[in-house]
Amino acid sequence: MAASNLPLDGDRLWADIMDLAALTEPDRPYTRRSFTPLFLQGRDLVAKRFAEAGLTVRIDAAGNMIGRLEGANPSLGVIAVGSHSDTVPAGGRFDGIAGLATALEVVRALRDQGVRLDHTIEVVDFLAEEPSEYGLSCIGSRGMAGVLEPSMLEMTEPGGETLRTALRRVGGDPDRLAEARRSDIKAFLELHIEQGIVLESQGLDVGIVTSLVGIRRMEIVFEGAADHAGTTPMHLRQDALVAGARTAASVRAIAEQLAGEGQGYFVATVGIFNVEPGASNIVPGRCRLVIDARSTNPVLSARFVEAIEQESAAHAAAVRVRRVPIATLSDSKPVICDETVRAAMHQGARDLGLNSTDLASGAGHDAGFMSRICKSAMVFVPCKGGKSHVPEEWSDREQIAAGAAVILQAVKALDKTLS
Ligand code: GLV
Ligand code: MN
Ligand code: MN
Repeated sequence: MAASNLPLDGDRLWADIMDLAALTEPDRPYTRRSFTPLFLQGRDLVAKRFAEAGLTVRIDAAGNMIGRLEGANPSLGVIAVGSHSDTVPAGGRFDGIAGLATALEVVRALRDQGVRLDHTIEVVDFLAEEPSEYGLSCIGSRGMAGVLEPSMLEMTEPGGETLRTALRRVGGDPDRLAEARRSDIKAFLELHIEQGIVLESQGLDVGIVTSLVGIRRMEIVFEGAADHAGTTPMHLRQDALVAGARTAASVRAIAEQLAGEGQGYFVATVGIFNVEPGASNIVPGRCRLVIDARSTNPVLSARFVEAIEQESAAHAAAVRVRRVPIATLSDSKPVICDETVRAAMHQGARDLGLNSTDLASGAGHDAGFMSRICKSAMVFVPCKGGKSHVPEEWSDREQIAAGAAVILQAVKALDKTLS
């Protein structure tokens, strides 16, 4: 379908995405890490666009930036639409941002059509959807769902700042987190790039998301002894890296085993691997890994944790280093998306003449946490080669506009049908 036939302005939506993309670390496109000055610059732009669209702007206690337009019948509650404006390091222009710009465009399109919803509509830029320097992801949506635990506020970034302090810095209020928890939101809709190749390879316009994987992040630290690399005989070394490297190989092997059993989707990654002191002529004294393990099946996740506990302990013992007790940084369960919202999305796609399919998500999203407090579902749009979390990430203007139109149609339908 041509973007010009859609009931919203695809060019205006695209301009928002590109304007945010311009706010990147110049030497590391596209990087706008949560809690940084660039992130706050991005939020200034988001707040400006919210206000131009007629929204009242606020930041809640969990650091979410929210634009609100009162409905004709506010007692019906809120329909919320949104995503996130932060990026991974050297990520893309669309992950999160496409969904945020879509939410904004939905409000502008309604205004252009002279439509006032009965429900109040809120556009949400969730704080730190991507894993932050504090080791936690989905900070804002956890807060809105009431599951941002006090212990999480004590997590620190490498410089020693706590999440509690950082939250205050971006306009949140860690002492009033309970106020961020919402019970008035009736539905949440999020557009996102697929981050996979199903839609592109099948020539489909949109995916209506059925479920989201559970994600567990674990930190493993090995402590050995730093020593002279030239004078310490092999049999006397306590090389922490060797235990770390063998553990990373175990992660791969266990994940391949579990993925191949046919009991559900399973993937695991070691994406952070630090070695200290990090000199070519020093035996590594400390090694830190962060594992990201995902599955649709909690039984597979539990088996993975048990196997990694055992194998990492064995690897530590084999090279006489100490394994610090494994820390679970976060552990979110798999989520099933709401049927009512999904049906409205499917109907919206049909009405617009778009091809849609059901799709499971291997990525985590704020919609997962929102499903704890309201009916929540997502629309995926194709992205080139399925690539994401890399600078080459790409979706066409028309592809995003089409997905946005599905969100718009679904919002209008839900406004009438949600009681
Ligand atoms: C979110 O980007 C994720 O890690 O799935
Ligand atoms: Mn992401
Ligand atoms: Mn995202």
